[in-house]
Amino acid sequence: MKNLLVTGGCGFIGANFIRHLLADPDFEGRIINVDLLTYAGNLENLDGVAQAFPDRYVFLKADICDRAAMDKVFEEFLVDAVCNFAAESHVDRSIVAPDAFIQTNIVGTFVLLEQARKHSQRLSRFHHVSTDEVYGSLGEGGFFTENTAYRPNSPYSASKAASDHLVRAYGHTFGLPVTISNCSNNYGPYQFPEKLMPLMILNALAGKPLPVYGDGLNIRDWLFVEDHCRAVWHILKNGRPGETYNIGGACEKTNIDVVQTICDLLDETAPALRSGPRRSLVTFVTDRLGHDRRYAIDFSKLQQELGWSPCESFESGIRKTIHWYLKNEGWVKRVQSGEYAAWVKKQYGEAP
Ligand code: NAD
Ligand code: DAU
Repeated sequence: MKNLLVTGGCGFIGANFIRHLLADPDFEGRIINVDLLTYAGNLENLDGVAQAFPDRYVFLKADICDRAAMDKVFEEFLVDAVCNFAAESHVDRSIVAPDAFIQTNIVGTFVLLEQARKHSQRLSRFHHVSTDEVYGSLGEGGFFTENTAYRPNSPYSASKAASDHLVRAYGHTFGLPVTISNCSNNYGPYQFPEKLMPLMILNALAGKPLPVYGDGLNIRDWLFVEDHCRAVWHILKNGRPGETYNIGGACEKTNIDVVQTICDLLDETAPALRSGPRRSLVTFVTDRLGHDRRYAIDFSKLQQELGWSPCESFESGIRKTIHWYLKNEGWVKRVQSGEYAAWVKKQYGEAP
């Protein structure tokens, strides 16, 4: 793996992944980070990386849907492996405006696969980063396994499911060395504050309402982002071509539990900023359309085949995350200016 193309490397997980990989002595290659810098892409997420690794890191602003641009990237940088993070990733936005999801998640993945096919002789791996949401929603019991039937419920998850199918089909039909990972909810540094955890941390710090959808009893399986990055690297290196691997945190929590934990930890770590418990900021709001009730992952295949399991506990991971947002006020301010304010107003009205 000499020239690894990482797409979407300026987003939340992609940036954490690039930092993780360049710090890992097991990776000696070069990373070519292709990112369109949409509202979710932020060059600041990789501050210092180009300076620290001048010969091993390249950034290119480009659209994965742009065939000519991707052709140039594959040719010029002798791409021999791909890790595809680039996507429209927010479920609520896919409900309001699905078009970009179809373009980037489906067409973009297709364009990358066509390039991989064209350069299949030197390609050692095409890894596609996907989501547990392709499996739909669970009842009170059971887990998603790699054999669970696809039943995506939102435009976001349907677009990811379509891209997974294309990746698998290119592996089957053209013999490309593809792998897919389906992961549960990530949290940690650099996450855009449209997602539950950073939204709640920042609203709670600002004394704003904490908008919990529906009854707050929907369940997600939370995984610290660093654990996800380690899992993706394991799969890139040692995953079996043609296989899918589920990644999860063994950490099921209701949304209201997550929000109340954030409130309590902020009361403890930032008491001076507010008088009175932050739990009083919780506001139950209209539910998300088609809101999946429960996700839970069986990751025993990844554990048994590649020896991966999550390292970070929820208790330490959420403390680290809160600490990061408290320490990075400048990042937060810059992210909250710009497009973010318009999204918040549209989604939550004047007061989120
Ligand atoms: P994100 O929204 O934070 O980042 C997405 C990145 O992709 C941004 O940098 C954006 O600029 C870039 N991008 C978007 N469209 C592009 C295009 N057409 N061409 C090039 N770059 C483009 O997303 P994230 O949360 O970091 O998620 C990364 C991947 O992981 C996605 O594929 C997502 O489906 C998957 N995933 C996310 C989670 C999660 O909890 N966040 C869980 C499982 C899987
Ligand atoms: O499961 C993996 C998926 O996790 C990824 O594929 C997606 O890219 C990622 O965005 C995430 O999807 P969710 O929809 O689960 O994440 P989100 O942070 O948007 O919401 C988490 C839960 O919190 C969900 O049940 C909806 C709820 N929620 C969310 C927001 C933004 C609220 O109650 N209020 C909110 O304001």
